[in-house]
Amino acid sequence: MQILVVDDGQPALLIYKAMVRNLPGCVAVCFRSSSEALKWCELNEPAMAIVDNEMPPPDGLEFVRRFRRMEKHANTPILMISAEKDSELRHKALELGASDFLSKPVDVIECTARMRNVLQLARYRKQLEDQAGFLAGQVRERTQEIVARERETILRLAKLAEYRDTETGMHVARMAQYSRAIARGAGMPTADQEMILLAAPMHDIGKVAVPDSILLKPGPLEPHEHAIMEQHTVIGHKILHGSSSELLQTAAEIALTHHEKFNGSGYPNGFKAEGIPVFGRICALSDVFDALTSVRPYKPAWPLDRALREISRGAGTDFDPRLVEAFMSELNEIVRLRQEYSDEEAIEAGASPQERAG
Ligand code: C2E
Ligand code: SIN
Ligand code: SIN
Ligand code: FE
Ligand code: FE
Repeated sequence: MQILVVDDGQPALLIYKAMVRNLPGCVAVCFRSSSEALKWCELNEPAMAIVDNEMPPPDGLEFVRRFRRMEKHANTPILMISAEKDSELRHKALELGASDFLSKPVDVIECTARMRNVLQLARYRKQLEDQAGFLAGQVRERTQEIVARERETILRLAKLAEYRDTETGMHVARMAQYSRAIARGAGMPTADQEMILLAAPMHDIGKVAVPDSILLKPGPLEPHEHAIMEQHTVIGHKILHGSSSELLQTAAEIALTHHEKFNGSGYPNGFKAEGIPVFGRICALSDVFDALTSVRPYKPAWPLDRALREISRGAGTDFDPRLVEAFMSELNEIVRLRQEYSDEEAIEAGASPQERAG
């Protein structure tokens, strides 16, 4: 460890040098000129600085001021050499960041003890800082791992519901992408856009509880079958709700509300307009658009223009008209997403259909 010693008097320098030599592991780096010492400090990191006050300018106080301004010396201890009686100087030095004082005339035993103490304190401080930094890094790393794992688990769960009635598992990916585009078009904050992208894929998770005889029925549903199918919203909510994860809370809300209609004629609760959470309103729109433009066991895929007419027709009745506007303002992007996440692309990419779902 290097100990910086600055004193314009050669005899004093020699005395401090000898004392430093008695500290284990320490070597003195001595300067008679304080400006040269400061220059040295720009490139070096002494473990401690010992500075006389009475020197040609910059004097000891000025040295302390400039030394402390250098970022890497923010916590380096400074011992100032001063006369016992000079309390005004001592107060100023403390204010500027001096750590302790060495009295003039020199008392070797006291000086050595003070040097030791100040060094020890600095060492503890550094250990604590290192430890805190290390722990903070660990926490950051673990948190990222947990978030990534949570997202993965959720996407895998979302696929579960999809396997049943879609061929390639691309529906949830598409409708999540559409949902984000709508959120962006509506001017929602980026965090909300990201949130809906991650939470939307779980909207139909409750379909795991709907029997194949209903879900895969090639024709229209009977009223009692429809009533059972409608339960996928409530069941999805039951599966997802009650978590402390904001992502799962949003997903639960979407599962429950993605079949509500703006005029209150939807299910399961008949919520109306702003009474439907905005994420639910967005997913209602993206879900229907994708269902219309895709093949289902009970319907062929509609061409784009017919689907768009159907969406426009639903503004104010089925859908939040402001969100239909947002959807239309993002139409180029939505058409591009439809191509990027198309079932054909998934198959051409050579993956077995379901593998592309996430
Ligand atoms: P899905 O097939 O993904 O459809 C999602 C939503 O898109 C439907 O919600 C509906 O609002 C809209 N949609 C789908 N196809 C059409 C259509 O041809 N015309 C219009 N105007 N809208 C359409 P919905 O009706 O509440 O159905 C929810 C889910 O229930 C559907 O998801 C599907 O899995 C099932 N389902 C609905 N109707 C039938 C049916 O007639 N037969 C069978 N097998 N399943 C059905
Ligand atoms: C699906 O086809 O699995 C999803 C249908 C829906 O979004 O309601
Ligand atoms: C938004 O932030 O654009 C949605 C607000 C709302 O319609 O509830
Ligand atoms: Fe649904
Ligand atoms: Fe859906």
